[in-house]
Amino acid sequence: MKNIVILISGRGSNMQAIVNAAVPNVRIAAVLSNSETAEGLKWAAERGIPTDSLNHKNFTSRLAFDTAMMEKIDAYQPDLVVLAGFMRILTPEFCAHYEGRLMNIHPSILPSFTGLHTHERALEAGCRVAGCTIHFVTAELDCGPIVSQGIVPILDGDTADDIAARVLAVEHKLYPKAV
Ligand code: GRF
Repeated sequence: MKNIVILISGRGSNMQAIVNAAVPNVRIAAVLSNSETAEGLKWAAERGIPTDSLNHKNFTSRLAFDTAMMEKIDAYQPDLVVLAGFMRILTPEFCAHYEGRLMNIHPSILPSFTGLHTHERALEAGCRVAGCTIHFVTAELDCGPIVSQGIVPILDGDTADDIAARVLAVEHKLYPKAV
């Protein structure tokens, strides 16, 4: 059995997809967040999954927060740490500590559109497709080795929200498979 710790910041729909997929030989050891009000925490707790949070606002530096978070994560002895909408830029120390066992999902076809507002930027650039990328995390933002990618069309008249919804449906299929 492999232990997985999932980190979220908000609704956690990707986390829910991974939990619901009941991946063979995988135990969701914990769902952790940088916000005690992340909606996904409640969902996980209701299903008997251990949850916890650490508010980054209570730390004086990025490294102090990451170090405390690493301690929490390591208590669950994870084989894999899964970032699922965890809206934090990670320190090189955090990335090095989990090298090769830290995954992220990013809502663009990397290496295009790293960072935020990916669907708006794809629209502005006139792209005809959008998508998502699951990758191992390295210290460089949204740049680690790619595990898998999903692609959807951008249709005439689409808003960024339309694209986000279309991409999210693909994320929910792709992330459990990647795990
Ligand atoms: C997803 O679009 C994911 O690609 C990005 O953040 C969003 C998280 O959504 N990293 P959710 O919290 O999993 O619903």
